[in-house]
Amino acid sequence: MKDFHFYIPTEIEFGVNAEEQLVTLVRKYGGGAPKVLVHYGGGSAVRSGLIARTEQRLADAGIAFVTMGGVRPNPRLSLVNEGIKLCRREGVTLILAVGGGSVIDSAKAIGYGVGYEGDVWDFYVGKAAPTTTLPVGCILTIPAAGSEMSDCTVITNEQTQQKLGYSNDLGRLRFAIMNPALTATLPAYQIACGTVDIMMHTMERYFTKDTDMDMNTAMGEALLRRVRETGDALLCGEVDEPTRLRHHATLMWASSWAHNDFTGSRNISDFATHKIEHEISAIFDVAHGAGLAAVWPSWARYNKHIDYARFASFATNVMGVEPEGTVEELAEKGIEAMEAAYRRWHMPTSLSELIGRKATDDEIALMADKCTRGDTFHPGYFRPLTRQDIINILTLANK
Ligand code: NZQ
Ligand code: ZN
Repeated sequence: MKDFHFYIPTEIEFGVNAEEQLVTLVRKYGGGAPKVLVHYGGGSAVRSGLIARTEQRLADAGIAFVTMGGVRPNPRLSLVNEGIKLCRREGVTLILAVGGGSVIDSAKAIGYGVGYEGDVWDFYVGKAAPTTTLPVGCILTIPAAGSEMSDCTVITNEQTQQKLGYSNDLGRLRFAIMNPALTATLPAYQIACGTVDIMMHTMERYFTKDTDMDMNTAMGEALLRRVRETGDALLCGEVDEPTRLRHHATLMWASSWAHNDFTGSRNISDFATHKIEHEISAIFDVAHGAGLAAVWPSWARYNKHIDYARFASFATNVMGVEPEGTVEELAEKGIEAMEAAYRRWHMPTSLSELIGRKATDDEIALMADKCTRGDTFHPGYFRPLTRQDIINILTLANK
């Protein structure tokens, strides 16, 4: 059993009336005379009326704010730099991210950058560590990345085509407002991407060498089973409105708990599939959840021999496979069942389905190089992967 660190300082307001707490939370975390940056994405929060409602709440309470939208999925460093300048110029004291993982990650990056004289990208490439940040809160509109409760921010540097994560407890959100009704406008594709990502955050922790943490195993399996069933109900079933809201609430709460280290701390988690996916989306700008679905079956087949028993438990306890046959057979059935679920949810299960063509050998080699920093870093804890391992996995996925 390994020692671990667990820290979740984020205050949560959950439910259909959660937004009513916005002003109280801004006053609590935004300083004596708060000034808010309302940060949002490509327009869904404008179209739903959420941005106007949020601005009205702040205005009614006499709280000053500025607004900056435009965050794209796979959030860009250039907008982060604009946000840093805006916050400095306007004397912003709190950033409110209204959106999903991309907006929250952009907000975290801006928060780190405001008090740092150098280039905020230094943190992502490991050249420096922040000593301070602006407080960040969110109104979550999509359950997926879990950034609302994670210590992580993932930013794409469009100039270098690098998509890198940076983790620090400093960046954890002060508060998250989580109203599942706000996710009713999500297209099925985004619900599917989110369902895949929530499961993957748990699977990255479930497939570990440290299987002696029974709480992690039990909670991980329960969360995975429930999220899989909820994905099926929302994406493949017929549900009435109250049941639909209940399912959205399940996904929303699960997204946070899948990635706040509750089912496994970072030092005993794998995250190789994530690292590989980040290389794919850095080059091809795909949706994160879809990229994960395209890689995981190949990662799993390449690595199942490391612990057949664990894969067999995944099959029977998560995917509902009948417990008949050898552990080797069960392991494969579990992977097939996960793949079948991805297909039901219209997610890709190969690179060519993901990007619309086969990746070239050069592209695969480039991704493997970047992912392993020229074979000097080997991502993964269940099984650390060399550059050649990643080439093999991506080649398997390139069907
Ligand atoms: O930009 P808008 O117009 O708002 O549309 C968004 C976007 O196109 C849309 N959307 C969000 N809420 C909606 C909605 N559409 C209709 N109704 C709503 N209520 O959904 C699209 C995807 O949004 P995005 O924020 O990109 O999704 P997600 O939460 O999946 O975040 C993905 C990003 O998070 C990173 C990913 O790599 C990716 O860059 N991750 C961050 C992590 C973290 N910080 O801990 C961990 C994850 O593993 C992940 O890497
Ligand atoms: Zn993820």
